Amino acid sequence: MAESMSGLKRTHRCGELSTANVGQTVTVMGWVQKQRNKGGIIFVDLRDRSGILQVIFEESDCGAANFGKAEKLRSEFVAAVVGKVTRREGAVNENLATGEIEVRAESVRVLAEAETPPFPIEADSRTKEELRLKYRYLDLRRPDIQRNLMLRSKIAATVRSFLSEEGFLEIETPILNKSTPEGARDYLVPSRVHPGSFYALPQSPQIFKQLLMCSGYDRYFQIAKCFRDEDLRADRQPEFTQIDLEMSFVDVDDVIDATERMVARVCREAIGLEVQLPLKRMTWDEAMNRFGSDKPDTRFGMELVDVSGVVKGCGFGVFTGALEAGGSVRGINVKGQAEMPRKKIDALVEFAKGYGAKGLAYLSVLPDGTYKSSFAKFMTEEELKALVAAMGGEAGDLLLFAADRLKIVWSVLGALRIEVARQLELIDNDRFDFLWVTEFPQFEWSDEEERYVAMHHPFTMPMEEDLPLLESDPGKVRAKAYDIVLNGVELGGGSVRIFQADVQERMFRALGFTDEKAHEQFGFLLDAFKYGVPPHAGLAIGFDRFVMLLVKADNIREVIAFPKVKDASCLMSEAPNVVDEKQLEELCLRVVETGNAETQNS
Ligand code: AMO
Ligand code: AMP
Repeated sequence: MAESMSGLKRTHRCGELSTANVGQTVTVMGWVQKQRNKGGIIFVDLRDRSGILQVIFEESDCGAANFGKAEKLRSEFVAAVVGKVTRREGAVNENLATGEIEVRAESVRVLAEAETPPFPIEADSRTKEELRLKYRYLDLRRPDIQRNLMLRSKIAATVRSFLSEEGFLEIETPILNKSTPEGARDYLVPSRVHPGSFYALPQSPQIFKQLLMCSGYDRYFQIAKCFRDEDLRADRQPEFTQIDLEMSFVDVDDVIDATERMVARVCREAIGLEVQLPLKRMTWDEAMNRFGSDKPDTRFGMELVDVSGVVKGCGFGVFTGALEAGGSVRGINVKGQAEMPRKKIDALVEFAKGYGAKGLAYLSVLPDGTYKSSFAKFMTEEELKALVAAMGGEAGDLLLFAADRLKIVWSVLGALRIEVARQLELIDNDRFDFLWVTEFPQFEWSDEEERYVAMHHPFTMPMEEDLPLLESDPGKVRAKAYDIVLNGVELGGGSVRIFQADVQERMFRALGFTDEKAHEQFGFLLDAFKYGVPPHAGLAIGFDRFVMLLVKADNIREVIAFPKVKDASCLMSEAPNVVDEKQLEELCLRVVETGNAETQNS
């Protein structure tokens, strides 16, 4: 039977006690981690979010009734213990923060009994993730997840105090909105009052924060929930949180400066990491050419080398064919891996094909100076020598080449570089490599839509010197956009915004919007800009990603209390779910069977 709390007040969390408390009578409350009955003495490990404490029951201290209750304690029972802190009589437990002390119980109350949990509540339990997520409320009791969520809370608090000190105002923006411009699919909410009309959940507070700048709030921030209906990955959730900010009367450097000082402060306070400021910066062009990625992992080398000039006119048709079609030939040098087994190389070829490669050409420089290669037979000795030299190849190296459209070469080698480094364990997991990537292209050609789309969003300001190219050569226009990258993950991104009506109009035209369409979608923003808009710029950091990287989790779900799985469902609550016919009627909605496999959960 559960007992009441009346008259009891917790004095300490379990993990807060230390030798400094020896001699004190304390009241602790928590969950029973385990109970061991050694005859006349019972050991109970009591757990709360601060840690584990050893409690000892002996009849001489606590009397027969309390001893009897202690005998019945089982894992995950909730108990309150009053007792005296003493130094451990037995050996000190090095594994416990409270390992030098114990509490000799004087009384105990069983506040709740518990069924046996479906998996052990302990750090690093090997339980399958589906089971963990189905019983997330139990999973959240595990010390490693608790540590993640406590750190998350601390980071939020640090961000709030830093930004408040810097004069940023925390302002909430609506969740029920018109569609926002981040380019993912919207989550829609049907309106009951306006049948046939829908709200869109915000993909970001982008438009509202720009309006707040128009309204004179000059420095805004929000720890904002965002919603995007896109394919999930290890670092993506359908609902996630941004540290979102916007500033008036600023340019690129001001946003970068404020952001990196905030990031450095968080790193220091959350994990004791000193980040050297200013952070390195690299243009998008340089990032792509050296790393094949706009979010380069700079913790290891293996940079891309352009060998197009070297293989031009060589005898290997795959290379010359790609060049003749306007493409490029580039490679990476995998140092010391000339002896990589054929099977492993074949697996890398398959990996490359997953990124759009038609193949992957390889050349091993053997210790005796000869080559093992998929294409050496098509080239002369001189051509091969020149190629190896261009790659900085030495005896023992494995060279991998992709020949294709530059976009594909970048994506293939960018991904391959990381895959190989992972396989060969070249990445130092203790490093935190921050980097700004700047001067992103304004537009990206979409094969699907057969038009240019905004790489960041349509409100991003082009670089002044590229403005004349907006109509003549949009592919060449660079934007005042920047991303902050940490260990090869896009941590955040932002831009200077367009604040001149004429530039905004040219931008919409370049993106293929008609005037009517632009006004229909963003009219209120364009109207607001007519009434005196300050130059402004901002950025948003992916809060979940930031926490994930700081705690070195390999999945964003480890730092979100109630995450969704790959098909965007919640295994615990079983959302999304069907609703009552009556609710649908009120909303004037009807579900149509499409028989489309895509709509079914997989
Ligand atoms: P952007 O779309 O680049 O910019 O988003 C900013 C950051 O949010 C994080 N993020 C995500 N995290 C988890 N799951 C997702 N599905 C997800 N999508 C994005 C990333 C990303 O870098 N309004 C602009 C910012 C601005 O211009 O001020 C924006 O939303 O870490
Ligand atoms: P093939 O002549 O198609 O048999 O290709 C010869 C070698 O070139 C094989 O190792 C292929 O994997 C490789 N290869 C084919 N297409 C490409 C490409 N686009 N880029 C790099 N290597 C390629």
